[in-house]
Amino acid sequence: MLKRLLRSWSTLGCLLALTLPPNSRQEEHGKLLLVSFDGFRWDYINRVPTPNFDAVMKEGVQVERVVNTFITKTLPNHYTLVTGLHAESHGVVANEMFDMHLNRSFSMEGQSAYEPRWWEEAVPLWVTNQRAGGRSGAAMWPGSDVEIRGVYPTHYVPYNASVPFQSRVEKLLSWFSGPEPIDFGVLYWEEPDESGHNLGPESPLLDVVIADIDDKLGFLREELKRAGLYDDINLIVTSDHGMTQLSSEKIIELDSYVSRDLYTWVDKSPVVGIIPKEGSFDEVYTSLLNANPNLYVYKREDIPDHYHYRHNDRIMPILLEAREGWTIVQNKTRKFMLGNHGYNNTLASMHPVFVARGPAFRSGYVKSTMHSVDLYPLMCHILGVPPLPNNGSLASVQDLLEEALTETPSPPPTPRPLVPSRPKDPSHAWVVGLLLGTTLVVFFLFIFVKQVTLKQLPTLPLSNREISQPLLYEELRL
Ligand SMILES: *[C@@H]1O[C@H](CO)[C@@H](O)[C@H](O)[C@H]1NC(C)=O
Ligand SMILES: *[C@@H]1O[C@H](CO)[C@@H](O)[C@H](O)[C@H]1NC(C)=O
Ligand SMILES: *[C@@H]1O[C@H](CO)[C@@H](O)[C@H](O)[C@H]1NC(C)=O
Ligand SMILES: *[C@@H]1O[C@H](CO)[C@@H](O)[C@H](O)[C@H]1NC(C)=O
Ligand SMILES: *[C@@H]1O[C@H](CO)[C@@H](O)[C@H](O)[C@H]1NC(C)=O
Ligand SMILES: [Zn+2]
Repeated sequence: MLKRLLRSWSTLGCLLALTLPPNSRQEEHGKLLLVSFDGFRWDYINRVPTPNFDAVMKEGVQVERVVNTFITKTLPNHYTLVTGLHAESHGVVANEMFDMHLNRSFSMEGQSAYEPRWWEEAVPLWVTNQRAGGRSGAAMWPGSDVEIRGVYPTHYVPYNASVPFQSRVEKLLSWFSGPEPIDFGVLYWEEPDESGHNLGPESPLLDVVIADIDDKLGFLREELKRAGLYDDINLIVTSDHGMTQLSSEKIIELDSYVSRDLYTWVDKSPVVGIIPKEGSFDEVYTSLLNANPNLYVYKREDIPDHYHYRHNDRIMPILLEAREGWTIVQNKTRKFMLGNHGYNNTLASMHPVFVARGPAFRSGYVKSTMHSVDLYPLMCHILGVPPLPNNGSLASVQDLLEEALTETPSPPPTPRPLVPSRPKDPSHAWVVGLLLGTTLVVFFLFIFVKQVTLKQLPTLPLSNREISQPLLYEELRL
């Protein structure tokens, strides 16, 4: 019913668009493609040559480090990127959740991930964009194949980790160039998160994975150019969180402090929700408090303010947080991974990368930091969509934009040109020469590093390739 209503609305919208003067919403505002490479830490681009990231930075903007939101895990942060809300406010507070009132569990691995109620404490941008008359397309972004407030993205594909990056890009580009083109696209890729967990971020073998992500960005840029979209589209490349190195020496065994009969636990290391059994709250809490200097133990109401992680029933009565690099287990029985994330969101190791280019962005501009909640109002501005209440600030990131914001809420009547002309560099030829030279050097370095690292690859335990849903492979296997 609702869908039909929406469909007739959009038909009406199309009819209106035909009768409107040419500077309607679609033309006035930019197209936007948001890309997330899961677990791409901010400093990975400094480890190996990344010519495609460099090109996007040169043509556009770079934010050196994005301060993401607690807990620094995949689902909470992907939902923050498209809602501008901290986890306590958008409701997807962890990858595994329990709702006391509903007596139901959520797991990103199971069918429960498709139940609208878990996502409906907030409204993601693809829905808001459609309600404002736009069209959205989603390729595997977490939550984008769920019906939220009665709405699916205009185009989407059900989550399937086996679908190659190239196919995801081709799908998106077909939606951007179709007869009824989308103006907002979201694209998700599982790496380098999966390899970061398996190899640890300090492994030199991860360099190959980072170089491969740069190749993938290169593929995306080439395809955008081939489709004639490159100059027209605003491309944002970012991530949900970083990654830190673990150690088998840094294990916190809960069984040493409290009987596992006294509680159940929700979500995995390094941040664990504890539900004490009836009448056991005090015993569980006092047993764990001060038990281990590398374990922070909070009653829900005492969780630090700066985490913005308290006001939601899906946050458990006791929260355990490990110190960076430490792992929480019940006992040491299973093998574990070498990298993880989820820790304190003020740690640099947890921070994602950010580069962007396109008509809305300045060129060659570097900003040291931004908050991930600020991306939402920025994207709303680019799309010309009124933002819903959120925790971000457009003013904090407006320096990334090519055109200064006007103080008044209503924009001036002059339509924005589709492709604003950039100021020409006075020493144009000199810059081109330098660019060419640098590109050549970088290219040969890249080939060299790739050859060297590829030679080491046969020793790599790639058994985890067969895991069907790497997005879901977030828990430590302990
Ligand atoms: C919660 O659900 C479980 C089964 O999933 C059931 O065993 C239990 O009795 C339920 N608890 C309440 C309070 O309804
Ligand atoms: C997932 O994608 C792969 C590769 O495209 C395909 O072979 C497979 O059938 C898909 N699985 C499902 C459940 O659609
Ligand atoms: C660890 O816990 C498992 C149950 O999860 C149990 O079977 C095993 O004996 C325990 N190992 C040790 C060393 O306590
Ligand atoms: C998190 O990091 C901040 C800054 O590095 C620090 O002040 C704080 O003590 C850390 N831990 C917690 C639990 O906030
Ligand atoms: C975040 O935004 C929501 C929605 O406006 C609001 O309810 C919440 O209080 C905000 N959180 C903070 C920490 O300001
Ligand atoms: Zn992730």
